[in-house]
Amino acid sequence: MGWRLLEPRNPGEGIRGAMGGSRIFEQPQYRAEAESMIEFIAGPQRVVVEIGFDHGMRLLAQAHQNPDTRFVGLEVRERQVSRVAPHCPDNLRVFRADARTVFGAVLPDACVTRVEVLFPTPWWVAQKRERRLLITESFVTDVKRVLRPGGDLYLATDVAGYFSAANGLFGAWTQAELPEEVGVLSRRERVCKRDGLTVYRACFRT
Ligand SMILES: C[S@@+](CC[C@H](N)C(=O)[O-])C[C@H]1O[C@@H](n2cnc3c(N)ncnc32)[C@H](O)[C@@H]1O
Repeated sequence: MGWRLLEPRNPGEGIRGAMGGSRIFEQPQYRAEAESMIEFIAGPQRVVVEIGFDHGMRLLAQAHQNPDTRFVGLEVRERQVSRVAPHCPDNLRVFRADARTVFGAVLPDACVTRVEVLFPTPWWVAQKRERRLLITESFVTDVKRVLRPGGDLYLATDVAGYFSAANGLFGAWTQAELPEEVGVLSRRERVCKRDGLTVYRACFRT
């Protein structure tokens, strides 16, 4: 049987998000992308999903350093996706998609080893201008379903309030060791280093 869009939490409603929410996956082009994402991550190898990869340098470096792991990058900005896509090695695919809809309506149960969220859009931008607040109760529920047993979510942010809200939402999870440094910094991480800003980090394990 082929892939089917998962039932939304409230029947009759899709998952809200950029690009029209999860209903976008009913369109043939996006449905085909969802199917290829699922096919790409199928199998026993480690699967890492980075959300909001921006210029993608860190994601590309990780994929080159770990050829036996499959990497998926999700980013809502089309320009970022089309810039990174031509440089992806065989173990990396990037998709223009809202991570909330991908986790809520596309990815099967227990298929991902690690989710990485580096410097998520702060809520004062996400809520007022773009309505893209990522880490909410429903997103945490979806991540828990999608992670394999023992899987984790790595979060880094320089927004103390976001970090504290995330700690509350992941309160029932255990704290795991932080992943090893990749050796290439994300754009925001570079700014934090340059300006001496505190970066809050946690790895939440199911
Ligand atoms: C503050 S920037 C951080 C970018 C990068 N991770 C870094 O550390 O420099 C947040 C990024 O997440 C993307 N983004 C925001 N909400 C998203 C969502 N729901 N799904 C996928 N990407 C998202 C934005 O387009 C942006 O590139």
